[in-house]
Amino acid sequence: MKYRLLILAVLFILSTGVGSIPDPSPQYGCETEAYPPLEQFKLPWFQIDLDASPRTRWTEIITTYKDPINDLVDQLLHLLNLVDPSGTILKIIDDVLPTLVLKFPKEYREEIEGISEVSGVKLGRVVVYNIFYELFSVCTSIVAQNSQTGEHFHARNLDFGLFMGWDLENHTWTVSEILRRMEYNVEFVRGGQGVFNMSSFAGYVGTLNGVKAGQFSLSLNERFVLEGGFVGLFEWIVKHEDLYFPTWLARDILTGNYTYQQALDTLSTRAILAPCYYIVSGVGHNEGWIITRGLNESLYPLQLDQEGGRWYLLETNYDHWKKPFILDNRRTPGEKCMNESSADTISKEHIFNVLSSDPVLNQLTVFTTMMNPQTGEMESYRQYCPTCYIW
Ligand SMILES: *[C@@H]1O[C@H](CO)[C@@H](O)[C@H](O)[C@H]1NC(C)=O
Ligand SMILES: *[C@@H]1O[C@H](CO)[C@@H](O)[C@H](O)[C@H]1NC(C)=O
Ligand SMILES: *[C@@H]1O[C@H](CO)[C@@H](O)[C@H](O)[C@H]1NC(C)=O
Ligand SMILES: *[C@@H]1O[C@H](CO)[C@@H](O)[C@H](O)[C@H]1NC(C)=O
Ligand SMILES: *[C@@H]1O[C@H](CO)[C@@H](O)[C@H](O)[C@H]1NC(C)=O
Repeated sequence: MKYRLLILAVLFILSTGVGSIPDPSPQYGCETEAYPPLEQFKLPWFQIDLDASPRTRWTEIITTYKDPINDLVDQLLHLLNLVDPSGTILKIIDDVLPTLVLKFPKEYREEIEGISEVSGVKLGRVVVYNIFYELFSVCTSIVAQNSQTGEHFHARNLDFGLFMGWDLENHTWTVSEILRRMEYNVEFVRGGQGVFNMSSFAGYVGTLNGVKAGQFSLSLNERFVLEGGFVGLFEWIVKHEDLYFPTWLARDILTGNYTYQQALDTLSTRAILAPCYYIVSGVGHNEGWIITRGLNESLYPLQLDQEGGRWYLLETNYDHWKKPFILDNRRTPGEKCMNESSADTISKEHIFNVLSSDPVLNQLTVFTTMMNPQTGEMESYRQYCPTCYIW
């Protein structure tokens, strides 16, 4: 199960030198005054016009974030060079991946081609850049419903950059640092009308979390298992042409005309290329789910159950029916802090405080987003905690 983590650990040690891993004994405490953060931490807003051609609709965002996009690609190439000094993999990326793009759905293909043109990053490298978000995000998502007001809250921390290089001088994760310079909120519009909101990183076309007013919100957390990931990707290349990136599916569902129930059904059943968790909130009583996805199936879906005492769902990167990985337990501290509130009193402020509590907030956390499926509102803040647990 921890195969990929192991590979990443090797990368980490290669890129840092042995002996620089800090003491893995975080002090758990629940923040009470993290909300609201200072105005300066709010992520900037952009709009994407779905009526514009896919090739040009990202131009403003890519132009704005051209420098960090290039810095990030350089860092990925640096890591690649550590594991493959011969340059064979890079050659495959530059020569073979552009043909893979031809298998992408037309809209995503054209978007990725446009991003390559505007950023000046070679096409194959933009593809890797997009794939790598599917594989390396570690996150925490929370859905809760207030029993007095019926209000739904859906929030997530995005933790990114694990093992992808450690900055010895500044004691930070190199990739996380770059990502903090290129995160933003975006409202997708069509015919002059807002369709949905999401928060993301520049150059990435999939959806890691998004909200559709009056319908639902969703977030995606990575699930580390052997099937899928690189294996799924390889299989897809050679045979299953129809397999789909989990983050494309999330975006399709927010873009299309799906009801909450249709969204749930599709997120549960559509074949995807890598395992993941979809965390979904609707707007009605007990409408909140953790969908644990294998490539073809949904395992032990878990629903909010206020009457049964389950007034919130909290998902990190481990199956809810199993214990979390011992070196990465953000679930228990997160639940402990959630349990300091109650179904009657839960609020956006409380959830933001939970997501700002070490180690739920850690050195990989690059932003926190809070979504309201009733109104479509979204609020995102850059996160940076140099004193928090390393992951
Ligand atoms: C460490 O941070 C400083 C200030 O932000 C920056 O100038 C320097 O380049 C960083 N060091 C590395 C190795 O990136
Ligand atoms: C969206 O779905 C609703 C209900 O399923 C339907 O009434 C409406 O016409 C659909 N809108 C579009 C643009 O397809
Ligand atoms: C998933 O379904 C496809 C066809 O729908 C099948 O070819 C493939 O073997 C299945 N994969 C797994 C892991 O069950
Ligand atoms: C939080 O409360 C729930 C419900 O009472 C309980 O099942 C769970 O064990 C608690 N978690 C922690 C970490 O205290
Ligand atoms: C997106 O979020 C902003 C800020 O919360 C909100 O004003 C806007 O209505 C939302 N857009 C949609 C389409 O829901």
